[in-house]
Amino acid sequence: MDFQLSEDQKLIRDTAREFAENELAPLAATFDHEQRFPSEVIGRLAELGFMGMAVPEEHGGAGTDNLSYIIAVEEISRVCASTGVIVSVNNSLVCNPLTKFASDEQKEKFLVPLARGEKLGCFALTEPGSGSDAASLTTTAKKDGDHYILNGAKCFATNGPNADAVLIFATTDREKRSRGIGCFIVEKGTPGFSVGTIEKKMGIRAALSSELILDNVKIPASNRVGEEGQGFKIAMNTLDGGRTGIAAQALGIAQACLDASVRYAKERVQFGKPIADFQAIQWMLADMKTHIDASRLLTYRAAAAKESQSYFGLETAEAKLFAAETAVMCGIKAVQIHGGAGYMRDHPVERHMRDSKITELYEGTSEIQRLVIASNLIKGPRVSKASAK
Ligand code: CAA
Repeated sequence: MDFQLSEDQKLIRDTAREFAENELAPLAATFDHEQRFPSEVIGRLAELGFMGMAVPEEHGGAGTDNLSYIIAVEEISRVCASTGVIVSVNNSLVCNPLTKFASDEQKEKFLVPLARGEKLGCFALTEPGSGSDAASLTTTAKKDGDHYILNGAKCFATNGPNADAVLIFATTDREKRSRGIGCFIVEKGTPGFSVGTIEKKMGIRAALSSELILDNVKIPASNRVGEEGQGFKIAMNTLDGGRTGIAAQALGIAQACLDASVRYAKERVQFGKPIADFQAIQWMLADMKTHIDASRLLTYRAAAAKESQSYFGLETAEAKLFAAETAVMCGIKAVQIHGGAGYMRDHPVERHMRDSKITELYEGTSEIQRLVIASNLIKGPRVSKASAK
């Protein structure tokens, strides 16, 4: 087993780190306080090729391996978890399924500008009545000649207010549950398609999440990705990749908490010595470090599994579960180590603690990750190798 990064992977890590520390760090707290979409840094990320990293170059991407992409999300999230998820959604949840399942025409029209970062994507599965039970969604897509008419509402859609193209999951036949779901591309500006409430959130406040309303939205049938009943499998396969992106985001948040805690523990003097000299603090730091290293191993293994295996849902569920719980634990411990100072708005660990919680919730809660892991143990892989493709 080789734990060394290649020269290319190191170069991408260093580029992402340099960008994050020099260009993103001075703005991250402001983006969070103002709940402002970080358009200026997204433009820079596009220039650096970070918006469609693992997309082949002929489709507008940077053509990197999946691990390089995961490392970039980790480095960006270490400084600004909001920017991390904007990047992750565009790469994992939009560019990835379009690379895998879109037609050549769809790739030319939608994937190329999304992968270049000229346009931004969004993945809309969740609805007010359909969260963990994704197959129960009620947004409908009705065939009308060579068009579909979409009706319904999506919620909590990351990038929703800023997206140029949205992957909408809608049912053509509710009786068939998951087998009746399709995946449709809806462009911003299509009549009947609008952004509803923009949510006020605990964390990742600069990554805007909103309702998306579909009121008799007419789209060409050529905007359907894959076959009519293939949408649920596209969504699940996409989330298997996306969850590794969220594991990387969680890892970045956890690492930021540890870095800040070690620094502070060495500086802060109480009872006549730095608090780093107290075993109570040392044990917290040791637990954070060990969990972070374990999360990184799981996350990098999941990234590699996506490269080499057609089904990688088990590895990705384990990585997301462990890294998310590690991020929350590290957020809480970092604030504890910082004491009252850590509870104050102008200290980054306050933001990191708020940002950490979402990693246990979106792209499948920790309970859903446990369900996927247990199901793999008891019933075997959730899908055969062939059907995961
Ligand atoms: N890959 C491919 N196909 C898969 C699959 C996978 N990983 N997992 C399941 N399938 C297939 C199954 O093989 C099955 O196919 P057949 O009908 O041919 O047998 C079909 O999908 C249905 O599978 P299940 O019966 O297992 O489906 P289920 O209804 O029991 O649901 C679930 C399974 C794991 C609970 C799923 O609903 C799930 O993952 N729920 C969580 C939803 C989620 O993650 N939402 C996140 C929203 S997106 C988001 O957060 C984005 C953002 O803004 C950041």
